[in-house]
Amino acid sequence: MNSAKLLNDQGQPQAVPLSERVHWIGALDPNLRTFDIILKTANGTTYNAYVIRGSSGVAIIDTVKEGFSADFFTRFESVADYSEIRVIVLNHLEPDHTGALPELMRRAPQAQLFISQKAQSMLKGLLKQNELRFTPVLTGDSVSLGDRSLQFLHTPYLHWPDTQCTYAPEEGILFSGDVFGCHFCDSRLFNDRVGDFRFSFEYYYAHIMRPFKEYVLRALELIQPLPLRLIAPTHGPILRDRPEHYIQRYHQLSIPALHSELSAHQKTLLIFYISSYGNTRRMAEAIYQGALQVEDVRVSLYDLEGGEVAPFVDLIEEADGMILGTPTINGDAVKPIWDLLSSLTVVNLKSKLGGVFGSYGWTGEGVRLVEDRLRGLKLRVPIPGLRVKLIPTDDEILECRAFGLELAQELMGIRENKQVNLADLS
Ligand code: FEO
Repeated sequence: MNSAKLLNDQGQPQAVPLSERVHWIGALDPNLRTFDIILKTANGTTYNAYVIRGSSGVAIIDTVKEGFSADFFTRFESVADYSEIRVIVLNHLEPDHTGALPELMRRAPQAQLFISQKAQSMLKGLLKQNELRFTPVLTGDSVSLGDRSLQFLHTPYLHWPDTQCTYAPEEGILFSGDVFGCHFCDSRLFNDRVGDFRFSFEYYYAHIMRPFKEYVLRALELIQPLPLRLIAPTHGPILRDRPEHYIQRYHQLSIPALHSELSAHQKTLLIFYISSYGNTRRMAEAIYQGALQVEDVRVSLYDLEGGEVAPFVDLIEEADGMILGTPTINGDAVKPIWDLLSSLTVVNLKSKLGGVFGSYGWTGEGVRLVEDRLRGLKLRVPIPGLRVKLIPTDDEILECRAFGLELAQELMGIRENKQVNLADLS
């Protein structure tokens, strides 16, 4: 018997036990193919919600997307009564987990709502109600259900600023929210029963968690010491077989890989360019030569015409700075540059060094547009973009060298506010 028993003998949704006191009361959404506009899923997702019973009452942890509320409520009713609910915990306020909340609060008005500190303004924004009663909590806070309890872990940005995890110590269960989740719908529910979901797990991490690796590592510091029997995320399989394996995988995915190749005082600077007639390429090569003059900067030069974007995203994620070279065509930077930039939304670029250059024929807007985009992505762009009309002259090549030199010095924190003598760079 592989399937979890999601329906009773009358064909009605019913709760699925995780233990004697804890049940899954979520819903399956096998037809979903796109989540949050950007995430694909080949077989849908699940909205996992849970109920835990203590000697003095019942708690619900997370709800489901609004259109799936009927399954959620019917499953809840198969194991408890609304009058028993003392606690509702929202680990994350995204609508796929709060859709059933207004109706749940109407059915259980006595219940106390627990959310993270950072969720307070979001809750008001989502529910549009002025008279909301809730208790904001942080790491170290807990609530008792008699012989069961819930402890809160502050784990922001996994996936929104509001996210938290909730630990039930007497059960050894971590209700992890989106953390350790994936969009994978399988009625067998448990990781030791469902089909191969490794790709979905990794894909979900890459798109949801990757931009917040620092926060993942901080969350793991809270999670790793916990005695765990099971991880109960809000999407995808419930992780009851070797839950520690998924914690280890998150750790592997979140630690930098490239830094180990550099000594502590070295920094990496990547120069990407694309060129129509070789003019932007000449600029790139001169900038590269200028940057090479700064000790301890590991400079790399790449022609975007010859590379796939995905490996470059990995390099940029771990680099300290990047310089982009683009011609201007029809008043814009060219598509390979925009393709690269649009791929960077999955990585954290904050405070990396940025620079832009390019040759142009008529108007040269491309450099400014890319500069604006770099600032929008929160890179530091300390030196205005360098533009050259058509073929660079010898003096302009020297300017390119100076541009590369200054950006590399800026990267190392040794740039002086002085005029560079172009003759020194020839
Ligand atoms: Fe599953 Fe971020 O919501």
